Amino acid sequence: MTQAPRILVLYYSTYGHTEKMAQAVAEGARQAGAQCDLRRVPELVPEKVAESHGFKLDQPAPLAVPEELPSYDGIIIGAPTRFGRLPSQMASFWERTGQEWLQGKLIGKVGAVFTSTGTQHGGQETTLFSLAINLMAHGMVVAGLPYSYKGLLEDGTVSGGAPWGAGTSAGADGKRQPIANELEGASFLGAHVAKLAAKLKD
Ligand SMILES: Cc1cc2nc3c(=O)[nH]c(=O)nc-3n(C[C@H](O)[C@H](O)[C@H](O)COP(=O)(O)O)c2cc1C
Repeated sequence: MTQAPRILVLYYSTYGHTEKMAQAVAEGARQAGAQCDLRRVPELVPEKVAESHGFKLDQPAPLAVPEELPSYDGIIIGAPTRFGRLPSQMASFWERTGQEWLQGKLIGKVGAVFTSTGTQHGGQETTLFSLAINLMAHGMVVAGLPYSYKGLLEDGTVSGGAPWGAGTSAGADGKRQPIANELEGASFLGAHVAKLAAKLKD
Protein backbone atom coordinates (compact mmCIF):
# COMPACT_ATOMS: atom_id res chain seq x y z
CA MET A 1 0.00 0.00 0.00
CA THR A 2 1.30 3.49 -0.88
CA GLN A 3 2.12 5.60 2.15
CA ALA A 4 0.13 8.77 2.82
CA PRO A 5 1.78 11.80 1.17
CA ARG A 6 3.68 14.13 3.50
CA ILE A 7 2.54 17.74 3.20
CA LEU A 8 4.15 20.80 4.77
CA VAL A 9 2.07 23.93 5.35
CA LEU A 10 4.59 26.71 5.89
CA TYR A 11 3.44 30.21 6.77
CA TYR A 12 4.25 33.62 8.20
CA SER A 13 1.61 35.67 10.01
CA THR A 14 1.99 38.92 11.94
CA TYR A 15 -1.52 39.25 13.36
CA GLY A 16 -3.01 35.75 12.99
CA HIS A 17 -5.10 35.93 9.81
CA THR A 18 -2.68 33.89 7.71
CA GLU A 19 -2.21 31.54 10.68
CA LYS A 20 -5.95 30.76 10.60
CA MET A 21 -5.78 30.16 6.87
CA ALA A 22 -2.75 27.88 7.35
CA GLN A 23 -4.64 25.82 9.92
CA ALA A 24 -7.52 25.42 7.47
CA VAL A 25 -5.13 24.38 4.67
CA ALA A 26 -3.58 21.76 6.97
CA GLU A 27 -7.00 20.49 8.01
CA GLY A 28 -8.00 20.03 4.38
CA ALA A 29 -4.78 18.12 3.61
CA ARG A 30 -5.34 15.83 6.60
CA GLN A 31 -8.96 15.18 5.65
CA ALA A 32 -7.74 14.12 2.21
CA GLY A 33 -5.51 11.50 3.84
CA ALA A 34 -2.16 13.31 4.02
CA GLN A 35 0.23 13.39 6.92
CA CYS A 36 0.54 17.14 7.35
CA ASP A 37 2.88 19.35 9.42
CA LEU A 38 2.20 23.01 10.15
CA ARG A 39 5.33 25.17 10.47
CA ARG A 40 6.21 28.88 10.64
CA VAL A 41 9.15 30.80 9.25
CA PRO A 42 11.13 32.81 11.82
CA GLU A 43 10.15 36.38 12.76
CA LEU A 44 12.73 39.01 11.80
CA VAL A 45 11.31 41.91 13.84
CA PRO A 46 12.95 42.31 17.29
CA GLU A 47 10.71 40.85 20.02
CA LYS A 48 10.26 44.17 21.87
CA VAL A 49 9.08 45.89 18.69
CA ALA A 50 6.77 42.96 17.85
CA GLU A 51 5.25 43.12 21.35
CA SER A 52 4.71 46.86 21.27
CA HIS A 53 3.08 46.65 17.82
CA GLY A 54 0.54 43.98 18.74
CA PHE A 55 2.06 41.07 16.81
CA LYS A 56 0.41 37.71 17.58
CA LEU A 57 3.31 36.02 19.33
CA ASP A 58 1.45 32.95 20.66
CA GLN A 59 1.62 30.85 17.51
CA PRO A 60 2.11 27.17 18.46
CA ALA A 61 3.41 26.00 15.06
CA PRO A 62 7.13 25.07 15.32
CA LEU A 63 9.71 26.95 13.25
CA ALA A 64 10.72 25.35 9.97
CA VAL A 65 14.30 24.73 8.84
CA PRO A 66 15.27 24.50 5.14
CA GLU A 67 16.90 21.08 5.62
CA GLU A 68 13.53 19.44 6.30
CA LEU A 69 11.89 20.59 3.03
CA PRO A 70 13.08 17.61 0.91
CA SER A 71 11.30 15.16 3.23
CA TYR A 72 7.88 16.41 2.04
CA ASP A 73 5.92 15.41 -1.06
CA GLY A 74 4.05 18.72 -1.15
CA ILE A 75 4.75 22.21 0.25
CA ILE A 76 2.03 24.86 0.60
CA ILE A 77 3.20 28.32 1.63
CA GLY A 78 1.25 31.34 2.83
CA ALA A 79 1.99 34.88 3.97
CA PRO A 80 0.31 38.30 4.26
CA THR A 81 1.02 40.88 1.62
CA ARG A 82 3.60 43.61 2.03
CA PHE A 83 3.04 46.24 -0.66
CA GLY A 84 1.62 43.62 -3.01
CA ARG A 85 4.35 41.03 -2.55
CA LEU A 86 5.59 38.47 -0.04
CA PRO A 87 6.98 39.70 3.31
CA SER A 88 10.72 39.67 4.07
CA GLN A 89 10.23 36.94 6.69
CA MET A 90 9.08 34.46 4.03
CA ALA A 91 11.58 35.73 1.43
CA SER A 92 14.40 35.36 3.95
CA PHE A 93 13.45 31.74 4.62
CA TRP A 94 13.57 30.88 0.92
CA GLU A 95 16.88 32.72 0.58
CA ARG A 96 18.27 30.13 3.01
CA THR A 97 17.35 27.24 0.67
CA GLY A 98 20.34 27.59 -1.66
CA GLN A 99 21.69 24.12 -0.85
CA GLU A 100 18.34 22.45 -1.53
CA TRP A 101 18.07 24.42 -4.79
CA LEU A 102 21.64 23.55 -5.83
CA GLN A 103 20.96 19.86 -5.30
CA GLY A 104 17.52 19.99 -6.95
CA LYS A 105 15.94 18.47 -3.86
CA LEU A 106 12.47 19.95 -4.43
CA ILE A 107 12.18 19.31 -8.17
CA GLY A 108 8.84 17.72 -9.10
CA LYS A 109 7.19 18.21 -5.71
CA VAL A 110 3.72 19.77 -5.62
CA GLY A 111 3.22 23.25 -4.21
CA ALA A 112 0.51 25.85 -3.70
CA VAL A 113 0.12 29.28 -2.11
CA PHE A 114 -2.24 31.36 0.02
CA THR A 115 -2.28 34.92 1.33
CA SER A 116 -3.93 37.63 3.41
CA THR A 117 -4.28 41.27 2.39
CA GLY A 118 -5.59 44.28 4.25
CA THR A 119 -8.00 45.32 1.52
CA GLN A 120 -9.85 43.45 -1.18
CA HIS A 121 -7.67 44.82 -3.98
CA GLY A 122 -4.51 45.35 -1.93
CA GLY A 123 -2.50 42.68 -3.73
CA GLN A 124 -3.96 39.18 -3.32
CA GLU A 125 -3.06 38.07 -6.82
CA THR A 126 0.38 39.68 -7.02
CA THR A 127 1.29 38.30 -3.59
CA LEU A 128 0.16 34.82 -4.58
CA PHE A 129 2.41 34.98 -7.63
CA SER A 130 5.36 36.37 -5.65
CA LEU A 131 5.01 33.39 -3.30
CA ALA A 132 4.65 30.87 -6.13
CA ILE A 133 7.85 32.10 -7.81
CA ASN A 134 9.90 30.64 -4.94
CA LEU A 135 8.38 27.21 -5.49
CA MET A 136 8.80 27.42 -9.26
CA ALA A 137 12.46 28.43 -8.93
CA HIS A 138 12.91 25.15 -7.05
CA GLY A 139 11.35 23.20 -9.92
CA MET A 140 8.14 22.48 -8.08
CA VAL A 141 4.80 21.95 -9.82
CA VAL A 142 2.50 24.73 -8.60
CA ALA A 143 -1.20 23.96 -8.27
CA GLY A 144 -3.83 26.67 -8.14
CA LEU A 145 -7.23 26.68 -6.48
CA PRO A 146 -9.46 25.16 -9.16
CA TYR A 147 -12.93 26.49 -9.99
CA SER A 148 -14.33 23.18 -8.77
CA TYR A 149 -14.15 25.11 -5.50
CA LYS A 150 -17.46 26.88 -6.10
CA GLY A 151 -16.72 29.48 -3.43
CA LEU A 152 -14.52 31.20 -6.02
CA LEU A 153 -17.72 32.26 -7.77
CA GLU A 154 -18.94 34.19 -4.71
CA ASP A 155 -19.98 37.69 -5.74
CA GLY A 156 -22.44 38.67 -3.04
CA THR A 157 -19.86 39.62 -0.44
CA VAL A 158 -16.15 40.40 -0.17
CA SER A 159 -14.31 37.09 -0.30
CA GLY A 160 -10.62 36.41 -0.86
CA GLY A 161 -9.07 33.73 -3.03
CA ALA A 162 -8.34 33.33 -6.72
CA PRO A 163 -7.56 30.55 -9.18
CA TRP A 164 -3.91 31.16 -8.21
CA GLY A 165 -4.42 30.35 -4.52
CA ALA A 166 -6.49 30.84 -1.37
CA GLY A 167 -6.88 34.23 0.28
CA THR A 168 -8.51 36.35 2.94
CA SER A 169 -8.76 40.08 3.69
CA ALA A 170 -7.97 41.32 7.18
CA GLY A 171 -9.65 44.70 6.69
CA ALA A 172 -7.90 48.06 6.74
CA ASP A 173 -7.86 47.95 10.56
CA GLY A 174 -7.11 44.22 10.79
CA LYS A 175 -10.43 43.48 12.49
CA ARG A 176 -11.97 41.32 9.80
CA GLN A 177 -11.38 37.59 10.35
CA PRO A 178 -11.32 34.91 7.63
CA ILE A 179 -14.92 34.08 6.69
CA ALA A 180 -16.24 30.55 6.10
CA ASN A 181 -15.91 30.81 2.30
CA GLU A 182 -12.23 31.77 2.60
CA LEU A 183 -11.45 29.04 5.14
CA GLU A 184 -13.24 26.46 2.99
CA GLY A 185 -11.17 27.63 0.01
CA ALA A 186 -8.03 27.15 2.10
CA SER A 187 -9.12 23.62 3.10
CA PHE A 188 -9.98 22.81 -0.51
CA LEU A 189 -6.48 23.89 -1.54
CA GLY A 190 -4.91 21.66 1.14
CA ALA A 191 -7.00 18.69 0.01
CA HIS A 192 -6.24 19.38 -3.66
CA VAL A 193 -2.48 19.37 -3.07
CA ALA A 194 -2.70 16.25 -0.89
CA LYS A 195 -4.51 14.36 -3.68
CA LEU A 196 -2.04 15.55 -6.33
CA ALA A 197 0.92 14.61 -4.14
CA ALA A 198 -0.55 11.13 -3.63
CA LYS A 199 -0.83 10.68 -7.42
CA LEU A 200 2.72 11.88 -8.06
CA LYS A 201 4.07 9.48 -5.44
CA ASP A 202 2.78 6.41 -7.37
C1 LIG B 1 4.45 47.11 5.80
C2 LIG B 1 3.07 46.63 5.46
C3 LIG B 1 2.66 46.68 4.16
C4 LIG B 1 1.39 46.25 3.82
N1 LIG B 1 1.00 46.32 2.52
C5 LIG B 1 -0.27 45.99 2.18
C6 LIG B 1 -0.69 46.09 0.84
O1 LIG B 1 0.06 46.44 -0.08
N2 LIG B 1 -1.99 45.77 0.56
C7 LIG B 1 -2.86 45.35 1.52
O2 LIG B 1 -4.00 45.06 1.20
N3 LIG B 1 -2.45 45.20 2.81
C8 LIG B 1 -1.19 45.51 3.16
N4 LIG B 1 -0.79 45.36 4.45
C9 LIG B 1 -1.72 44.77 5.44
C10 LIG B 1 -1.40 43.30 5.71
O3 LIG B 1 -1.44 42.56 4.52
C11 LIG B 1 -2.35 42.71 6.76
O4 LIG B 1 -1.98 43.25 7.99
C12 LIG B 1 -2.27 41.20 6.77
O5 LIG B 1 -2.93 40.68 5.65
C13 LIG B 1 -2.82 40.55 7.99
O6 LIG B 1 -2.43 39.19 7.95
P1 LIG B 1 -1.75 38.51 9.21
O7 LIG B 1 -2.70 38.66 10.35
O8 LIG B 1 -1.54 37.09 8.84
O9 LIG B 1 -0.44 39.21 9.48
C14 LIG B 1 0.48 45.75 4.82
C15 LIG B 1 0.95 45.68 6.14
C16 LIG B 1 2.22 46.11 6.47
C17 LIG B 1 2.67 46.02 7.90
